[in-house]
Amino acid sequence: MPHAGARRIGVLCALEQEVAYLLDNLEHAETFDAAGMAFHAGRLDGEAVVLAKAGMGKVNAAIAATLLIERFGASAVVFSGVAGGLDPALSVGDVVIADHVVQHDHGYEGPGGFVVYQHGHQPFFNPFDGLGLALDAALAGRIAAALADYELSPLSVTAEAGARAPRIHFGRVLTGDQFINNEDVRAALFRDFDARAVEMEGAAMAQVCAAFGVPWVVIRALSDLAGHSSHFDVHRFLDEVARSGALIVRRLLPVL
Ligand code: ADE
Repeated sequence: MPHAGARRIGVLCALEQEVAYLLDNLEHAETFDAAGMAFHAGRLDGEAVVLAKAGMGKVNAAIAATLLIERFGASAVVFSGVAGGLDPALSVGDVVIADHVVQHDHGYEGPGGFVVYQHGHQPFFNPFDGLGLALDAALAGRIAAALADYELSPLSVTAEAGARAPRIHFGRVLTGDQFINNEDVRAALFRDFDARAVEMEGAAMAQVCAAFGVPWVVIRALSDLAGHSSHFDVHRFLDEVARSGALIVRRLLPVL
C-alpha cells in the first residue's frame, strides 16, 4: 500500500451514497478492507486519493481517519458528506464548509443539566479553555479562493416551490452520535452554538487529524433541516446533495 511522505488526500465518507460519485470517478482504483471498512486508493482528477466508507458515527470516523493517516499515508483528510441544517437561513442543498467543529454530545451532566465541554477533557480533571477545533486559516483562504466563482447546481427536486439557488457557506458544524430529528433540539443547538449544520462524524475526524498533525476540512451538503421531517428529507435528498458536496471536494483537491 502507499508509502508515507507522498502527497495523498484521504476522503472520508460515512455512507454508501456519499462515497458513490467519487468512487465512480476514481481511476486505477484498488480496494482494501480494514477494520470492516472499505478503502479505495486511486487517482481522482490526477490527484492521489484514498476514499474511505466508514459508516456512521464518531468512533467509525476516528477509526477510518486513523487508518487513512497511519496505514494509507494521507497527508490531508477531507470529509465529504451530508448534514442537517441548523441555521433557519439555510436550505436543503446548501453546502457548509466547517470553519469550526464541536462535539456537541461531549461534556458533563451538572446540577443545571448537560454542559458541552472540550473533547477529551472534563473541568474537574483536566480543564481546558475553549471549545472545538478551527479550520486552519491558510487552508480556509485557499478553499475560499478555489470556490470564489463556483456555482452549485439547483436541486432537481426543490425543497419548496420557488426555492433559491443553493449556496456555499463557511460556518460552525456540530458533531454528535445522534441523528437530529427534533425541532426543539435543532433550535437549541442553533441558539447555543450559532452553528450552521449538525452531523455525526466531522469533529471526531478533526480530532484524529489534529492529534496526528494532519490538515483536515469538513464539507457538508444539507440533506435535511434537522427538524421534524429530517428522517424523511434525508432519504429524499441524500443522493443528489451528496453528489454536490463531492463535486466541491473534487474542485478542492488541488488546494488541500
Ligand atoms: N446527517 C444528515 N442529517 C442529519 C441530522 N439531521 N442529524 C445528524 N446527522 C445528520
